[in-house]
Amino acid sequence: MEIKKICVLGAGLMGAGIAQTAAQAGFEVNIRDMEDRFVENGMASIQSNLDRAVSKGRMDKDEAQKVMGRIKGTIDLKKAAKDADMIIEAIIEVMEVKKQVYKELDTICKKEAIFASNTSGLSITEMASVTQRAGQVIGMHFFNPVPVMKLVELIKGFSTTDETLEIAKAYVEKIKKTSIEVQEAPGFAVNRILCPMVNEAIFVLAEGIASAKDIDDGMMLGANHPIGPLALADMVGLDTILFVLDGFHKELGEDKYRPAPLLRKMVRAGHIGRKSGKGFYDYTK
Ligand code: CAA
Ligand code: NAD
Repeated sequence: MEIKKICVLGAGLMGAGIAQTAAQAGFEVNIRDMEDRFVENGMASIQSNLDRAVSKGRMDKDEAQKVMGRIKGTIDLKKAAKDADMIIEAIIEVMEVKKQVYKELDTICKKEAIFASNTSGLSITEMASVTQRAGQVIGMHFFNPVPVMKLVELIKGFSTTDETLEIAKAYVEKIKKTSIEVQEAPGFAVNRILCPMVNEAIFVLAEGIASAKDIDDGMMLGANHPIGPLALADMVGLDTILFVLDGFHKELGEDKYRPAPLLRKMVRAGHIGRKSGKGFYDYTK
């Protein structure tokens, strides 16, 4: 099947980037969120990324306008999804919410449409179980910031067909990214390694072993990471990191995955990183 039209669900941090990269590769994209203001924020962030690319001479103005012209924002799920060949879902990391959306999508979408989830580590098999098309459901895990990061993890659920995997691989190539194939497991491969490292950094901070800045400087200068683990947590969103770690702890059942109490406390306080203005660092100044 040839993919032409994409529907992206969620116009947040990830959805906006996913829509941008699809439109840059020439796909028609509908992006859907729950409220107009979320759709508008997503569209504004794509526009500002394109403006930056133009100002840096990486894209000409005409091309940027064409890219923007391929993206339509809406709050109407049916309008966004009914003609799409592939739905890329990038909504909140809560299984029950995702399952509700997949159930609805299954009744709206073309029968051959593929459902791809950008989940950070939830079970593709469980999402697929509420649809009548489990063979066409796959994990397509992008990394933040999407326009910059080259990797996409592709995850087959229990019933995902080889044909779906091949279509997903071809799509990743078209958007000029590199895919790796990963078995379904909590956090897949990259987050299984990355999130416990971030969690450990939060324990190190909470135990007073070093300050946030020194932890981050340490990992940048001593381990050559592009940004430190606490700055990374702020970039990803502390809520997402906590969802992922809670999932590891529950599914893998080992205490080494226990989320740092400070992480949970900060999420409860609404200090979830860049998107709220405050996390381990203050972004309001
Ligand atoms: N959107 C689009 N482009 C962006 C961007 C964004 N949000 N942030 C930065 N960029 C671009 C800049 O425009 C710049 O491009 P040019 O060089 O062409 O001008 C380039 O990225 C470098 O940016 P900066 O010079 O401003 O900053 P930097 O050198 O610190 O790089 C970074 C920024 C690429 C984000 C770098 O800090 C980095 O690699 N950080 C780690 C990212 C990472 O680990 N991501 C994975 C998170 S985990 C995840 O995503 C999985 C999950 O499920 C939670
Ligand atoms: P976000 O909070 O920035 O955005 C999520 C958006 O989804 C919000 O705008 C919300 O209004 C919207 N939404 C909620 N329910 C919806 C529904 N039923 N239909 C349409 N939109 C809905 O979150 P994010 O960081 O973009 O994460 C989205 C997904 O991507 C999650 O599954 C997350 O685990 C995954 N992910 C996140 C990162 C990251 O670094 N933040 C990286 C890779 C994958």
